[in-house]
Amino acid sequence: MKTFTVALLAGFAALSLTATAQAEADGEAVYNQACMACHMTGAAGAPIRGDEAAWADRLEKGIDTLYAHAIEGFGAMPPKGGQMGLSDEDVQAAVDFMVEPVL
Ligand code: HEC
Repeated sequence: MKTFTVALLAGFAALSLTATAQAEADGEAVYNQACMACHMTGAAGAPIRGDEAAWADRLEKGIDTLYAHAIEGFGAMPPKGGQMGLSDEDVQAAVDFMVEPVL
């Protein structure tokens, strides 16, 4: 009986972990789908993911400003990368993923 209870608890733990992962915005997936075209190549002057020099001045504005610019647009950067179907949370997660290597 004890073994059964332990197995059951382990099952629940695994289930709730999966549910959490799905509920959260997946920054990498959003980046790959909506941001990579410009932010991997530097098209139109987009800061490239992982390019410290390109991000240094931008990071000084603070992450909240970067979120706002990604959502509302900034210069040649279209609002939400031009994908208006994305939620604000999706875009913020993509910004987090984009700046993560240079923090
Ligand atoms: C059509 C090309 C394009 C796409 C797609 C695109 N960006 Fe950009 N992004 C740019 C360009 C160009 C800039 C530089 C704008 C400037 O400095 O004038 C930029 C700048 C940024 C900045 C810095 C803003 C600042 O205040 O310095 C962030 C953050 C950003 N993009 C996030 C994203 C995210 C997140 C996505 C995907 C959801 C995305 N971008 C998709 C072209 C793009």
